[in-house]
Amino acid sequence: MRGKFIVLEGCEGVGKSTQLRFLKEYLERTGQDAVYTREPGGTPLAEKIREIILTSEMDAETEALLFAAARCDHIQHKILPAMDEGKLVVCDRYLDSSLAYQGFGRDLGYDKVLEINDYAVKHCLPDGVVFIDMNPLDSWRRRKGHVVENDRMEREKDEFHLRVYEGLKHAEKNRSNFLSIVPEVEKDATHRKIVDALRSRGLIR
Ligand SMILES: Nc1ncnc2c1ncn2[C@@H]1O[C@H](COP(=O)(O)OP(=O)(O)O)[C@@H](O)[C@H]1O
Ligand SMILES: [Mg+2]
Repeated sequence: MRGKFIVLEGCEGVGKSTQLRFLKEYLERTGQDAVYTREPGGTPLAEKIREIILTSEMDAETEALLFAAARCDHIQHKILPAMDEGKLVVCDRYLDSSLAYQGFGRDLGYDKVLEINDYAVKHCLPDGVVFIDMNPLDSWRRRKGHVVENDRMEREKDEFHLRVYEGLKHAEKNRSNFLSIVPEVEKDATHRKIVDALRSRGLIR
């Protein structure tokens, strides 16, 4: 049987990587084998493209196409092979980040970015998107006063991040695979919400 595909989405600093770590611990503890990956990146070529995207100035169309190209390599060489072996795949960000960042953040339009990605994605859509629903201006990272501005996306102004959030909320309304999670102050409580949501959809045990 084909393995399931789970994605974590959300704005910067809302706890995606933290929750991914918790989920990994849970899956390991309960004997559920999985492949963990991230976007942009996940394969040697896609990681090289990631480096270019996050460090070089470029126009929005080029950026959208590079994200899609990196995703294409990631799908062909990592995601689909693992799913074909019946493995669960857990990915930090995926298609909906492009729809939100390039579609809304860069204002290319949701449908245009979806069109570019359709070609790369070829029906490799997640079975579940865990959307950590938190306003980026109120993120955990900002509350802690750690505003890390390492890359081109993180350096963008507040309005950009608010448009990204709006894009994710738009995707939430338009896609049936979204599992929206409003995070709790206690990281463990958020983790339990995520596990419950994934279990109730039959995506994990
Ligand atoms: N529930 C929480 N309460 C307080 N801090 C949190 C919580 N969840 C995550 N954090 C902290 O917020 C910061 C950003 O989390 P991270 O998982 O790196 O976010 P992302 O991967 O979404 O950018 C980290 O310092 C992390 O420890
Ligand atoms: Mg992260």
